[in-house]
Formats: sequence, structure tokens, C-alpha cells
Amino acid sequence: MIYMDNSATTRPDPEVIRVMSEVMENVYGNPSSLHGLGGKAERLVKQARQATAKVLGVSPRSLVFTSGGTESNNMAIKGVALQFQNRGRHLITTQVEHASVHQVYEQLEREGWRVTRLPVDEKGRVQPEDVERSLTNGTVLVSVMHVNNETGTIQPIPEIGRLLAGHPKVLFHVDAVQSFGKMDVRPQEWGVDLMSFSGHKFHGPKGTGCLYIREGVRLSPLLSGGGQEEGFRSGTQNVPGIAGFAKAAVLAAGRRKQRLPLFQQWKRELIQLCKEGLTNVRINGDISDAGGAPFILSLSFPGLKSEVMVHALEEEGVVVSSQSACSSKGEKASRILTAMGIDAITAVGTIRLSMGHQTTEDDVHRTAEIFRRVIPRLQQVMKVHES
Ligand SMILES: Cc1ncc(COP(=O)(O)O)c(C=O)c1O
Repeated sequence: MIYMDNSATTRPDPEVIRVMSEVMENVYGNPSSLHGLGGKAERLVKQARQATAKVLGVSPRSLVFTSGGTESNNMAIKGVALQFQNRGRHLITTQVEHASVHQVYEQLEREGWRVTRLPVDEKGRVQPEDVERSLTNGTVLVSVMHVNNETGTIQPIPEIGRLLAGHPKVLFHVDAVQSFGKMDVRPQEWGVDLMSFSGHKFHGPKGTGCLYIREGVRLSPLLSGGGQEEGFRSGTQNVPGIAGFAKAAVLAAGRRKQRLPLFQQWKRELIQLCKEGLTNVRINGDISDAGGAPFILSLSFPGLKSEVMVHALEEEGVVVSSQSACSSKGEKASRILTAMGIDAITAVGTIRLSMGHQTTEDDVHRTAEIFRRVIPRLQQVMKVHES
């Protein structure tokens, strides 16, 4: 089986599994306990925070461990909204955010907040000038994702960070769930106040994540209780999960430099296949090295249905995704592709290939070969049906 659905989730690294089982077996104390076992667990959490902070180039005090990307996004956005509800009730985001950002803004809208959702161009990119134009005296937060989970398009985060530096009362949140672990992510240098990460996207454990909170930024906590994680997130820490998250972050950071050019080469190979070996195919998002993540490729085959392609490709041995895993059960055309101006027939015929640190050259060659066999066959069946 060739696994080409690494943006949905990744297979945990064997080293991560080893560290986690060792921690579960030997370091089972509560990090808040005063005795030795508790101290051992507390030290482990501290080391994990330091290791993750080093990868990000930030202070360990600015990291809060969470249960994943969804919680980090909710914590950032609702935390700011609760904290600053008397300052202004205007929020800015984009039309292409993940559901765990999009739905939070919908909820806040129902509670009386005004939300501006910025449009994107045909490649799925938001314009920094549009962010600036939308700012009002009441704006408290801007949320823009780093890498889009459906298309791989990279948003101009450093540019937006620079322009928001001139508006110190406006906080900047970035969902970096798809980029961290595969690309260099620098919250502090980019002028970001809050940044979300998820362990299972870079060969770490599911149900683990992290939120970067720039030192000095105040947030209302969503979970109140024992005051763990500096009061930002109460609840006994998931010690094995945190150890696994940090291990995966360090491993991924060590592999990134060597893997990025490979992803780029392999993505180009798959794009070449589309141009020469397939017909009636649309490549979505920005496919330039600078503008698109090299590990995500979104392809549309107008007239075909995503589910049909996913199943037919799986039968031949390659696992891909229809749009994104989180929206793949829905029948509707993707909200993200629609925002990019893609028509419904094309959007419902879209699949996503995504590579991870375990993807090999052979996987890519075999994927191309399977596509060359399966897609024309499905298109032929469609033609016969239509005539
Ligand atoms: C861009 C983006 N943000 C957030 C999430 C949610 O992360 P998690 O699955 O850890 O809750 C995902 C997951 O697919 C994602 O792709």
C-alpha cells in the first residue's frame, strides 16, 4: 500500500512510539505531584517544551501543550474573544481556513461578533493589503493559516505580520498545522502572536498539539481547573503524548532540510504526469516552489467523482484523499475550492495527494504509474455512461 494521505494524518515514527511506551511504562507520575515520580514527569514535560521551543526558535514559556490543532485554534480564537470582548467585537479571517477556525468564527458571529472573511485569488492566496484595508478600531484578532490543507497554497504570513506590527492592539493568529514539521516555521520572526500545531501531522501521536502564545499576550483559558500549563490550559498533562510530540518535532526538524528538495522533485514529477500522461485534469493551488507546499498536490478531474477515484485508486494500491479528510464525508463542493472560483463539477472531482517523511521515490513512481492506468479508465467509463 502506498500512503499518499499524509495531510490527513501520518504514521507515527517508530522512535516516537518507543519514547511514548517507555514514558507510559516508567514515568506515570502526575507532573503536579510533589513526590519523585511526579518530579520525573514534570522534568520530562519541561524537556519536551524546551526541545519544541528550540525547533521553533521561541522561549519555552511561550508554548502550551494541547490536544491538537483543533483545540489550539479554539483556544487561540475564543481565548482572545473572551479576553477582549469589551475592547471591540471585530475579527478578520479568510474564506479558506480549516473547519476548526471557520466554525469557531461562525460560533462567535452567532454571539454578536462581526467577522470579515477575506477572499482569495485563483491560487487560494489572500492579499496582505486586504487585511490592512479591513482593519477597524474594533479589530482584536486576525487569523490566517500558513499552508492550506486542501491545496498546499502558502499564505504570505511574514508580510501580514509586518503590516500588523503597526497595529499593536490587533493580535495575529496562524494555523500552522500543515506546515510545522515539514517547513521552517518562525512565529517570532514573522510577527505572529499565536500559532497552532498538531502532532499527528508530522509523525507524532494523535490527540497532541501545541499553541505558541507570544510572551505578554493574555488569553482567557477555555479549560479552568488545576492551573496547569501556566493557567492557560488546566488538566493533567498528557505526559506520553507531550514526549511523543516533542520527539516527533525534533525528528521532523532534522529531516526537513534534506526532505524539502525531494518533495519538490516528486511534486514536479507528479505534475509532469498530469501534463503529459493524463487529460482533462486541473492542478489546483499555487504549484511554484515559493508559493505552494511541495508535499500537497490537489488535482481535479471534471466529470469524475472524488469518492469513485479514491476507491478505484485504493483498489490499485494507492491511498489518497477526497479534498481533505475533515470534509471528505460531505457531499458538497469544497468551500475552499469554491472560494478560489472553481466550479462545483470540478470541485467534486477533486483528490488530494500528500507526502510525508516516510514517502519514498518508489512510492511516487508507482503512484504515477497507477494514476496513468486508473484515471483514463474511469474517464472512459464516464464517457460511455454519458453517451
Ligand atoms: C489546517 C488544519 N488545521 C487544523 C487541523 C486540525 O488538527 P487536529 O486534527 O489535530 O485537531 C487540521 C487537520 O486536518 C488542519 O489540516
